[in-house]
Amino acid sequence: MKHYLVTGGAGFIGSNFVKYLLKKYGDLRITVLDDLTYAGNLGTISDNLKDSRLDFVKANITDQNAVKSVFEKYEIDFVVNFAAESHVDRSIENPQLFLETNILGTQNMLDMAKKSWITGKDSNDYPVYRKGVKFLQVSTDEVYGSLGETGYFTENTPLAPRSPYSASKAAADFIVLAYAETYKLPINITRCSNNYGPYHFPEKLIPLIIKNILEGKKLPVYGDGSNVRDWLFVEDHCKAIDTVLTKGKIGEVYNVGGHNEMKNIDIVKLVISTIRRLMEENTEYRSALKTGIESINDNLISFVKDRPGHDQRYAIDPAKISGELGWTPETCFKDGIVKTIRWYLENQDWVKEVTSGDYREYYDRIYGNR
Ligand code: NAD
Ligand code: TYD
Repeated sequence: MKHYLVTGGAGFIGSNFVKYLLKKYGDLRITVLDDLTYAGNLGTISDNLKDSRLDFVKANITDQNAVKSVFEKYEIDFVVNFAAESHVDRSIENPQLFLETNILGTQNMLDMAKKSWITGKDSNDYPVYRKGVKFLQVSTDEVYGSLGETGYFTENTPLAPRSPYSASKAAADFIVLAYAETYKLPINITRCSNNYGPYHFPEKLIPLIIKNILEGKKLPVYGDGSNVRDWLFVEDHCKAIDTVLTKGKIGEVYNVGGHNEMKNIDIVKLVISTIRRLMEENTEYRSALKTGIESINDNLISFVKDRPGHDQRYAIDPAKISGELGWTPETCFKDGIVKTIRWYLENQDWVKEVTSGDYREYYDRIYGNR
């Protein structure tokens, strides 16, 4: 039986991963370690916490004592490090927090895993670790920087981050690789493209657009909307992480993506037309709507000032993970976006819960003066 330590398990991808694991495996234990920042919500996993295989520790990944005591209490086999400050716009406002959490937090997790897993030394004086343990760092394609109109990110693309967020994630990747080289810590890094799906915090493009449409608010599109992102349904990302944990070659980096590049403006238009269609087909969905159904149209789109240093295009080449480990995505965008929108229409209570804190103040600060 494996015991997983999932940091950031109350956030978007981490919570989906916890649900994925609980469903897929019978015999396992999961400890979620999460500091419940604005992006973390215990309600997201409260039903799962009724399951005796899962428990929760509220702690910051930078806190040495708190993390140490988790490793002392449990025999952890896998660390999956999702915990991070994850929003580019917030990183532009407050880079320091991103460096603290994403870099120092990752280093602290690595150090505590190393100390807990070490069983001795080999003939070259390198540490030897308990069999079967692994540290998986959940990274992002944003560490590779920005692409022009053509080409893809491979695992050999040089890291060239351009935002404080992506720079902090790239630094974390380097420190993970340094632990692999210097201390022979068994690690993998996954670098995934943009995720979408249930439990996505409504500061990111897709859930923000859905929320605003339902509230009859303008839909802020940065610049001219021509920026391209490569979208992957969150469950496919979870499946990729599970695949890398169980089959990934120690020390390797794997890119994760499903060849689904879309311009932001096309995403926004698709979300508008899909919500409208779903409401026409199912009048019950209209209860989530604050305005009339006829107001759901492209006139809601508002082109606003561009994000500083806005990366133009991301696109992943997933040949390594699919060729070597047999991973392929299951949900195509056409189906995934409908599933996602339906989930938001049916889970308005969750949206209200997660946006009841400082969300209003954040929204006015970012969008109010544009
Ligand atoms: P998220 O912002 O939704 O969730 C982050 C979680 O980490 C929250 O639960 C938060 O409370 C927790 N957290 C933040 N700081 C913490 C700290 N110091 N100590 C403990 N917990 C802390 O993020 P997400 O979108 O789920 O992303 C998860 C990971 O996946 C991140 O590392 C991100 O870089 C990476 N990633 C995200 C995407 C994407 O499209 N969202 C794509 C590729 C990679
Ligand atoms: P986002 O969801 O913040 O993810 P990331 O910056 O990590 O890719 O943004 C996705 C794209 O959508 C990005 O090109 C910025 C753009 N965007 C908007 O046009 N308007 C918005 O209100 C937001 C949040 C993002």
